[in-house]
Amino acid sequence: MSQTRINIALDGHSSAGKSTMAKTLAKELNFVYIDSGAMYRAATLFCMRERLIEGNELDMTRLRSAIDRMYIGFKYNASTETSDVHLGGLNVEKEIRSMSVAKKVSLVAAVPEVRHKLVILQQRMASPGGVVMDGRDIGTVVLPKAALKFFITADLEIRAKRRLMEIEADGMEATYQEVLANIQERDRLDSSRAVAPLRQAEDSIVLDNSNLTVEEQFDFLLSHARRVIAESQ
Ligand code: DC
Repeated sequence: MSQTRINIALDGHSSAGKSTMAKTLAKELNFVYIDSGAMYRAATLFCMRERLIEGNELDMTRLRSAIDRMYIGFKYNASTETSDVHLGGLNVEKEIRSMSVAKKVSLVAAVPEVRHKLVILQQRMASPGGVVMDGRDIGTVVLPKAALKFFITADLEIRAKRRLMEIEADGMEATYQEVLANIQERDRLDSSRAVAPLRQAEDSIVLDNSNLTVEEQFDFLLSHARRVIAESQ
């Protein structure tokens, strides 16, 4: 019997481990993983390269005329068995994880024109079903009809420690205080922006993973996914 191709939305706070969970879940279910945050990071890199950002100001007039040249997409990477984000046809997966991009991403993610363009791409990628997508507005805006929605969170300090470890593992540098302040600020901006703010979808299942191992979290998500897939057959 073929498996029903439901879509799964994973939203939540920055560095709550959404992408690790979404990636593992997609692999286990043989679904496609889509990292919507990587798309906002790539859009930010585009703005930085086009020199549209000056301090905390984004040149909206120039962005509006440049946005049609902003090509963002994913390509499968056989060595990591996941998809890498590409900007203008080039792999930017590593560059978009830098602190310099993290510091500007909230500015770019708040722009309605950027969100509009990326949401259309995200919805198109999810239209065949069988997608696990993580982000901030997936269950509320991008895929409001997703059969399964999770909202993932953890204590701020725990998220900052985990993120610092990832940055160091990628060979980049940052201090704990810098990472903590960045996550705190992104939480604030993500939740308070006018367009598609981070909020819990009413029909989402909440998971606070502060005191859970990766295996425990994964078991929780997988058991819900298997249940919903079985129910939808
Ligand atoms: O998931 P992430 O930390 O890589 O996301 C980077 C930023 O992009 C995050 O600070 C908020 C923004 N974002 C968003 O506004 N909407 C999404 N669906 C995903 C990410």
